[in-house]
Amino acid sequence: MFEAKFVSLGSYFRREEEGMGEMDFDDVVRRRRSIRRYRREPVPEDVVWRLLHNAHRAPTAGNKQPQEFVVVRDEGLKRRLAVAANDQSFVAEAPLVVVVCADAGRSAARYGRRGYEFYSVIDASCVCMILLLSVANEGLGACFVGAFDDAQVSRVLGLPEGVRPIGIFPIGYPAEEPVKRPHIPLEKVVHMDGW
Ligand SMILES: Cc1cc2nc3c(=O)[nH]c(=O)nc-3n(C[C@H](O)[C@H](O)[C@H](O)COP(=O)(O)O)c2cc1C
Repeated sequence: MFEAKFVSLGSYFRREEEGMGEMDFDDVVRRRRSIRRYRREPVPEDVVWRLLHNAHRAPTAGNKQPQEFVVVRDEGLKRRLAVAANDQSFVAEAPLVVVVCADAGRSAARYGRRGYEFYSVIDASCVCMILLLSVANEGLGACFVGAFDDAQVSRVLGLPEGVRPIGIFPIGYPAEEPVKRPHIPLEKVVHMDGW
């Protein structure tokens, strides 16, 4: 599974040349929700590529880019991922699941233990956030699923040694409109000096 590669980038670049897809950034941030119910229609391949292309642009420590993307559409694999994610069945109900992984060795090559344990995870998390915002920008829905058994996910996907799953993202057109989850008031978490 891990070796499987997409080969067609054509439609992604066509869209970029046409200048399509711009949307107000604040709206995208405000509108994003964790979506756990999906319509059945598939996510078109050019859209999948835009999501991946954006996520791949994330900043990474030393530009080491430890991210790896595993794109899953096979029903059997999705079901096994759902089981590995503590039986969160909605994972298998999305037409598309992207698993963001970190090849910690790429970060460790430059930064040693801190790269392996810390930067690789932070880097992959930056990738995850861009993926989520890009999903919202496309009118799609996704949920960051972080509750899973690492070893089980690695086995299901055939991840090589040193490649660690960071987030499982079921993605599809939303079949629910959740209300915004409450946030701690900003003034309680912002600590400013005297300006
Ligand atoms: C690191 C991380 C792990 C998460 N793991 C799960 C998960 O395993 N299952 C799930 O349903 N939601 C999971 N979530 C989604 C959160 O529950 C959700 O983001 C939070 O409740 C805020 O809601 P919102 O995303 O709609 O703003 C996770 C989110 C993050 C950032």
